[in-house]
Amino acid sequence: MSSIAVIPGTYDPITLGHVDVIARAQKLFDTVIVAVASSREKRPLFSLEKRIELVKASVSPEVEVFGFSGLLVDFCAEKRAQVVVKGLRATTDFEYELAQADINAKLNPNLESVYIMAHPELGYISSSAVREMARLGADVAQFVTPAVKTALAEVDF
Ligand code: COA
Repeated sequence: MSSIAVIPGTYDPITLGHVDVIARAQKLFDTVIVAVASSREKRPLFSLEKRIELVKASVSPEVEVFGFSGLLVDFCAEKRAQVVVKGLRATTDFEYELAQADINAKLNPNLESVYIMAHPELGYISSSAVREMARLGADVAQFVTPAVKTALAEVDF
């Protein structure tokens, strides 16, 4: 049976930290699907369509990219994914991720959550820090791909 992994997130916007986790997941699973959550309650800076476009422009062409707005477990079932992959950056991520993994396991006990430790040089990056830096005029080239840098430069903050 081929292994299918889903890597979910809001990706507002995708950062080099995400890109690293996605590339490493590709070495472990036959198919890697990035699931871009609508996350309406977070009032994202970029529209869902733009976030999907920026993920596609930032990862290798073998990675499948979709938006979703319901439960993650339902999206995984629709895509026949057996695994959810997330990046872990610091101990502060752990409790939040543990709670999400526990909820997802209750909703679908057959779905496994797997964690990839963030690259030591990328662990401090977050989408909100990138948005803040772009808003305040810092060069974000070392944190995001060129496509994301261009998109941030076009935002009227
Ligand atoms: N590199 C860089 N940043 C990373 C990262 C990495 N490897 N891993 C996580 N992050 C950052 C994100 O950029 C984000 O940063 P920000 O808050 O500063 O913007 C933060 O960590 C949180 O990311 P994440 O844990 O992926 O949360 P999210 O809000 O982006 O996505 C979902 C969460 C979409 C996976 C989750 O809400 C979900 O499954 N929603 C669907 C509804 C559902 O099923 N709910 C029940 C389960 S609780």
